[in-house]
Amino acid sequence: MRLLHFSDPHVQLPGWRERPLRELGPLRAIASVELWKGRGREYDGALEKLRQIVRDADALRADLVVCTGDLTQLGLEEEFALAREALAPLGERLVCIPGNHDRYPLEGRPNTLYEAFFPARALPDGFVALDSCGPLCWPVLTQGRIAGADLDRDFAGKVVLVHHAPFRTGRAPHPPWQRVRGATKLLERARMAQAILCGHIHERFHEGNVICAGSSTRQADEGYWLLEGTPGSGRDLRVQRYGLGASAVAADHVRS
Ligand SMILES: [Fe+2]
Repeated sequence: MRLLHFSDPHVQLPGWRERPLRELGPLRAIASVELWKGRGREYDGALEKLRQIVRDADALRADLVVCTGDLTQLGLEEEFALAREALAPLGERLVCIPGNHDRYPLEGRPNTLYEAFFPARALPDGFVALDSCGPLCWPVLTQGRIAGADLDRDFAGKVVLVHHAPFRTGRAPHPPWQRVRGATKLLERARMAQAILCGHIHERFHEGNVICAGSSTRQADEGYWLLEGTPGSGRDLRVQRYGLGASAVAADHVRS
């Protein structure tokens, strides 16, 4: 089986520069300051790059395409609509979880647009999905948490999907404002997992059984992983780094 893993495409509105800040509400106005500081420019081509990833999935004959969250930039309805339309050709092959940007509140209340656009479906056999975001994520604060029953799941031999990466490149810890509560416990309990697929931090790496796709559409750092093997079998996966256009970069193995 071939599995394409990408993350954090951050589809944004093509006309975000023309949007009045008051239309976005005070919290999104804060988040949109980040867009003006440079983030918006990095994602101007995100939608087209997402479409390219979908075409790459066909070119690479991927059986499953996993996105570990942050489909959108500001959690807006129009952004979800664009993301859904771009991903539609994947049909049942798409396996997706929400990220913190997809949970930015709407008028101070939890945002359920993700569920409206991507209704819950059963995961393929051998997969476990964890919610590191919670129902309400405030812009700019990007901490995550893995808690409660999620830590007591049976991870042995499974492919675990979680938005927040448990550590940074080289197992470096997160700075306090990006702390992921429960990350150490998850790493302990999921040490026998076949793979832990994640994103959120915009760094692409794999360390042990942790595979972080970073942001697959960010300008000058586009890319994703292709995993080959049998999800849920606990056996080694062949892992290969790809650039957009289905260009292979490097191959490695993940040992669980
Ligand atoms: Fe995120």
